[in-house]
Amino acid sequence: MTLTNVKSWLERGQREGFAVGAFNANTLEQIQAIVLAAEAEKAPVIVQISHRALQYIGSGSETLGLQYVAAIGKIAAQSVRVPVALHLDHATETEVLQAISLGFTSVMFDGSLLPYEQNVEITRRLYYAAQAANVCFEAEIGEVPKPGVSESVEALTDPDEAAAFVEATGIDTLAVALGSIHAVTEKHVSIDLERLKAIRRVVDVPLVLHGSSGVNDNEIAEAIRLGLSKVNVATQFNVVFSRAVRSVLTDDPQVVDPRKYLAPARDAMQAAVAERLRFFGIAGKAIR
Ligand code: G3H
Ligand code: ZN
Repeated sequence: MTLTNVKSWLERGQREGFAVGAFNANTLEQIQAIVLAAEAEKAPVIVQISHRALQYIGSGSETLGLQYVAAIGKIAAQSVRVPVALHLDHATETEVLQAISLGFTSVMFDGSLLPYEQNVEITRRLYYAAQAANVCFEAEIGEVPKPGVSESVEALTDPDEAAAFVEATGIDTLAVALGSIHAVTEKHVSIDLERLKAIRRVVDVPLVLHGSSGVNDNEIAEAIRLGLSKVNVATQFNVVFSRAVRSVLTDDPQVVDPRKYLAPARDAMQAAVAERLRFFGIAGKAIR
């Protein structure tokens, strides 16, 4: 299929109690692992690229990174029969506009560190650009900490501010800070489910959980049941991918062909993505 805007899937997940997985990729193999798992599990999926992945893929140039990813993302989507969205995550204003013009079907403007009024003003302006191009648009209120940027949980989402933000900007989906932290490698973080309930009562657009890798699975399941309908996963897959590479290289230090360790890493990540799709309740939903 061609790249899809999966906003209607997020809304359906919110109504029916499942979540769309938004899975980060840093390499070609990781993009393949995501779409192959989605195809095998008959699930719509979001391939998600971070600002830092763009810098890596573009050898320091975010523009080149976007061009590479847009081209590869289109081919990846065309290689399967389930809906695939290509999402730019935690992006700047310039990157959001570039991604829209290059054919991404989903973008997130991250103004979470800006003063509220400035976040509203830029978000609203970018939302109009996204809407005109049929691109699903996500923004954040509150802040999910990121390594090297902000380390501690200080700004959980305030329900009334979230409602006012959605009303003022018109956005399609809202990333909320419930206590999760980006890039945690073990599942021991708790999220504030009472806060999620309070946000859900006053905000009707689909809600997004960032930093899910460190969050206890029973709380993720409960959050989905409460109406959270996009779950972002990055670190959990990087752990699996890296472990598979390490295993091959440790077992045979003479290996020099990258395919010998990247293929098992791709397989391992595909299995991990499939597990998340089943866990989120979306496996089998894209019946052909
Ligand atoms: O921006 C990335 C996503 O929110 C996933 O975060 O690496 O903690 O799973 P994670
Ligand atoms: Zn995130």
